[in-house]
Amino acid sequence: MKKYFKRVTALLLAASMAASIMACSKGGGGSEAAKSPDEAVQTEQAADQSDKEFYMVAFNSGYPYWKQVFRGFEDAGRQYGVKTVLGGSTKYDLNESLTAFEQVVAMKPAGIAVTAMDAEAYAPIIDKAIEAGIPVVTFDIDSPKSKRISYIGTENYDAGANAAHYIAEQLGGQGKVAAVTNKGQANIVERIKGFEDTLAAEYPGIEVVQVIDSGEDETAAANNASSLLTSHKDIDYILATTVIASSGAQQAVTEAGLADQTKIVAFDIDTVTLDAIGAGTVEATISQAPWVQGYWSMVYLYHISAGMITSADNWQENGYPSLPATADSGTAIVTKDNYQIFYTDK
Ligand code: BGC
Repeated sequence: MKKYFKRVTALLLAASMAASIMACSKGGGGSEAAKSPDEAVQTEQAADQSDKEFYMVAFNSGYPYWKQVFRGFEDAGRQYGVKTVLGGSTKYDLNESLTAFEQVVAMKPAGIAVTAMDAEAYAPIIDKAIEAGIPVVTFDIDSPKSKRISYIGTENYDAGANAAHYIAEQLGGQGKVAAVTNKGQANIVERIKGFEDTLAAEYPGIEVVQVIDSGEDETAAANNASSLLTSHKDIDYILATTVIASSGAQQAVTEAGLADQTKIVAFDIDTVTLDAIGAGTVEATISQAPWVQGYWSMVYLYHISAGMITSADNWQENGYPSLPATADSGTAIVTKDNYQIFYTDK
């Protein structure tokens, strides 16, 4: 049974979207016949959204990474003529970030893209927003058990595996490596898992000497990397999975006078990291696609908010959503050969 929307007002569209999301969140089709994904497309002109506000919610909002994601979010918002706001906590603190997210939900914006600093802790707030008819997508860090509509972000395990392949190729399959990382953040834990698993499975000649926890603390990263280099002067590569880890590792390598022996592979394409590639203190970085995450998060949210597409009933149970349930935004290896094109910070 094909069911198309008739001529509708903005109000009706919004109401039908909220009802659909709620039906999906309750896991049932209510009294109406269940709607499949191909019946979820609105064929009429979308409702005017120009008075709508869409939020991107992050944590530790000063990270250069969020600025790059938000640029994509803003670009899509500008194309649609809607307002876009960057919200979230200013510190790296779970309670503060949860409160900031709750405050955004309470404002009832037209849509929210959120990075879930802790997947479990964010889920009830995401579900509350969905039940209130606010479309929510996750970016950067998913909350897969929540009722979020989609996740748009890096496949972090593969990103770590890419780093392993790059380093192993440079070393011809033989050598010693270490990593500096934040062991308390799920997406970054996945990076290390992909890195270690790949080396263990495919490159038996490469030894992982140590994986150091730096949290999000540059001093800890530098101090712990210094101790590592004091006891192991023969490390060929350090994988630094965050900007903080990379700054700490660079300091330690320079201070130990090991720049010719120990190379660094970092993550992300902020200006500081790209400059370090230019200067030779970082050999390569694994670029995520922050603009892509922000842009497509906004596109998804706009489509739902404008009633252009609604959620298929029961999609989580049936595994057949109207939008991709997860979208891998991809990674690239950035070295001295190609780093110039990755400068996008203004
Ligand atoms: C990660 C974010 C993280 C940020 C910190 C990015 O690589 O994807 O989750 O918070 O780095 O610099």
